[in-house]
Amino acid sequence: MSAQIERIERLYREGTLPQEEMSLLIEQRDAASTEHLFALARTRQQEHFGKAVYLRGLIEFSNVCRNDCLYCGLRRSNRACSRYRLTPEQILESCRVGYAHGLRTFVLQGGEDAGFGEEPIARLIEAIKSRYPDCAITLSAGEWPRAVYARWRDAGADRYLLRHETADPALYARLHPAELTLEHRVRCLWDLKGLGFQVGAGMMIQPPGQTLQNLVTDLCFLQELQPQMIGIGPFIPQKDTPLRGERAGSLELTLFMLAVLRLLFPKVLLPATTALGTIDPIGREKGVLAGANVIMPNLSPEDVRAKYTLYDGKNVTGIEAFKTQLADRLAKIGYEIGMGRGDAPGYAPKFMQDDGKGQRTPPES
Ligand code: 5AD
Repeated sequence: MSAQIERIERLYREGTLPQEEMSLLIEQRDAASTEHLFALARTRQQEHFGKAVYLRGLIEFSNVCRNDCLYCGLRRSNRACSRYRLTPEQILESCRVGYAHGLRTFVLQGGEDAGFGEEPIARLIEAIKSRYPDCAITLSAGEWPRAVYARWRDAGADRYLLRHETADPALYARLHPAELTLEHRVRCLWDLKGLGFQVGAGMMIQPPGQTLQNLVTDLCFLQELQPQMIGIGPFIPQKDTPLRGERAGSLELTLFMLAVLRLLFPKVLLPATTALGTIDPIGREKGVLAGANVIMPNLSPEDVRAKYTLYDGKNVTGIEAFKTQLADRLAKIGYEIGMGRGDAPGYAPKFMQDDGKGQRTPPES
C-alpha cells in the first residue's frame, strides 16, 4: 500500500490524522489515490444521509456592506456595485415561491448592512416563521454583537453561516482591512454556538497567499469548533476588487478538501457551493461525488441576482430552471433531492408544531 493510501485509510478509520500526516496527505495528493478518498467520503456521506442531497433556498436580501474585504465584490469601496436592499414583501414572495417548490430551509444572506440590522431582520424572521413554521431559517449576515444574535435566535432563526475565511491570522490580515480580525470573527462563531444556533463556518480555497499549511490550520480550527455546517469554495477573482488579477482556486483542490472534510466530520452538512458550480459546469455534481450533501438554489428576485457580485461569472439560474434540471442531474450520478428541513443529525427541531392555522404551538412535554 502506498503511503498516501495508508493515510487515506487511516483518516477513514480514525476520523482524524496527526497534523504532519494531514499536511502530507494534502501535499502528496495524486489522481489515483484521490479516487479512493472520494469513494470513502461517499461511504461516510451515505451512512448518514443516504443518497439525499438537501436543498436550501438562498435569498440575497441586501448587497450593501460596511466591510471592505479585499476579495469580495460587495466591499464598500466598490463603486461599480449597484446596491439594492429587498423589501420584506419581496423576501416573503421569494419564500412563497421556494415553499411551493418544496424548499424547507431559507437562507437569508446579505452584506453587513446597518440599514438591514437587528430589528428588520428580527421582524422578518418572525414573519417567515409564522407563515412557514415547518421551515428552518438560516441567517448569513456577518458579524454582530452577541445581543443581536440572541434577538435573532429568539425570533426563531435556527442556523447561522459565518465562514471563518481562514484560520491563519497573517493570511486573515492579508485578505481583510485592519479593522476586521480573525479573533473577532471566531468570537462571533462561539457566541452563535453558545446561543444554540446550528453554526456553519468554512474557508475559501486558494485565495492569494494561502499555503497548504494554512488549510491544515483551517481543519484544526474546524475540529475545535465542531460546526454543524461547513461551506468551502474556490476563491474566484472579482474584477472590481484589488484581487482582480489573481488566479482562481482549483476545482481539484476544492474537491479534495470536501472529501477530507467528509471524513473528518461524517455528519456535517457540506454544500457543493455556487462557487464550485461557477468554476466548472458540473462542479456541484463533482462536489456531491466527493462527499457534499447540500445544494443552495438561488431564490432572490431575478432582477437583483446579477447584482450580488461576490465574484465574477457567478451562476444566477433561478429555482424554476434549476430544480427540474437538478433532479435530473442528481439522478444521473445516483443521488436524489432530499425532502424536509435537512437538519444536522441530532438537531431535528423539537419545539414547534404546525396546528394548520398558521399558529405556532409548543409540543406537549
Ligand atoms: N471568491 C470566492 N468566494 C468569495 N466569497 C466572497 N468573495 C469571494 C470570492 N471572490 C465568499 C466568502 C463569503 C461568502 C459569502 O462568499 O467566503 O463568506
